[in-house]
Amino acid sequence: MFDMLKIDEDIWKYIIDHTTERDPLLTELDRETNLKMAFPNMLSGHYQGRLLEFISKMIQPEYILEIGTFTGYSAICMARGLKTNGKLHTIECNDEVIPFAEKFIRKAGLQDKIMIHFGDALQVIPRLNVFFDLIYIDGDKSQYCQYYELTFSKLKTGGIILVDNALWDGKVLKQSSKKDDETNGIRNLNEMIHTDQRVENIILPVRDGIMLVKKVTG
Ligand SMILES: C[S@@+](CC[C@H](N)C(=O)[O-])C[C@H]1O[C@@H](n2cnc3c(N)ncnc32)[C@H](O)[C@@H]1O
Repeated sequence: MFDMLKIDEDIWKYIIDHTTERDPLLTELDRETNLKMAFPNMLSGHYQGRLLEFISKMIQPEYILEIGTFTGYSAICMARGLKTNGKLHTIECNDEVIPFAEKFIRKAGLQDKIMIHFGDALQVIPRLNVFFDLIYIDGDKSQYCQYYELTFSKLKTGGIILVDNALWDGKVLKQSSKKDDETNGIRNLNEMIHTDQRVENIILPVRDGIMLVKKVTG
C-alpha cells in the first residue's frame, strides 16, 4: 500500500496507529477473503474502508450504488453511513462470491440495507429506478467510462461518485499498449471526468488512487 507514492514506512505506521481501528467483523472478513478467494487483494482493506465509511457518514446518503461487490467489504463500510431506511444497491457478476458477501452482510446486521444484484452492471444499471447520493465505481476497469455514463443521470445533483484505482499502480502515466483495456479504461475515465463541465473532481493518492467527483449540475 502506498508503494507507488513512496510513503515512508514509519509515517505509514503512524497514520495507521492514528486511524480508528478496524472492528473484528471486518478483520474476519478480510482474513477469510485472503484464505478462500482468488485475487483477495481486490478487497478495499482497512485504511480505504475507513475512508469510505467516513465519507459515507459525512454524506449520510439515502441511496448508494456500488459496482463490484466482491466479498462485501466496501459495501459494509459504506452502508454504515446510510440514513435510517436508506439502501445500498451493489452489483456483482461473479455468482461464486455472492454467498460469501451475503454471509458477512448478515453478520454485520445489514441484510435489510444492502441489496445485491447479480449480473453485469451494464445490464443492471439501466434497470435501477433510483436516484443515488453516492456511487462507488469498482468493477471492470475496461468498462469504467460506460459505468460513468450510465450512472451519471442516476446521481442526484450534489451527489458524489468515487472511482477506485484511478492511478492503477502508476500505469496511467505510461503509454499503454492498445490491448491494455484496463489502463485505457481508467485513463479515459480520468480524462472524461476532468473535462466534464458538470462536475468538480479531485484524485486522492490513497492506496491505488481514488477519484472523487461531485455533480454540480446537470
Ligand atoms: C475490485 S473488486 C470489488 C472490491 C470491493 N468493492 C471491495 O472494495 O471490497 C471488483 C468486483 O467487480 C466485479 N465485476 C467486474 N465487472 C463487473 C460487471 N461488469 N458487473 C458486475 N460486477 C463486475 C468482479 O467480479 C469483482 O468481484
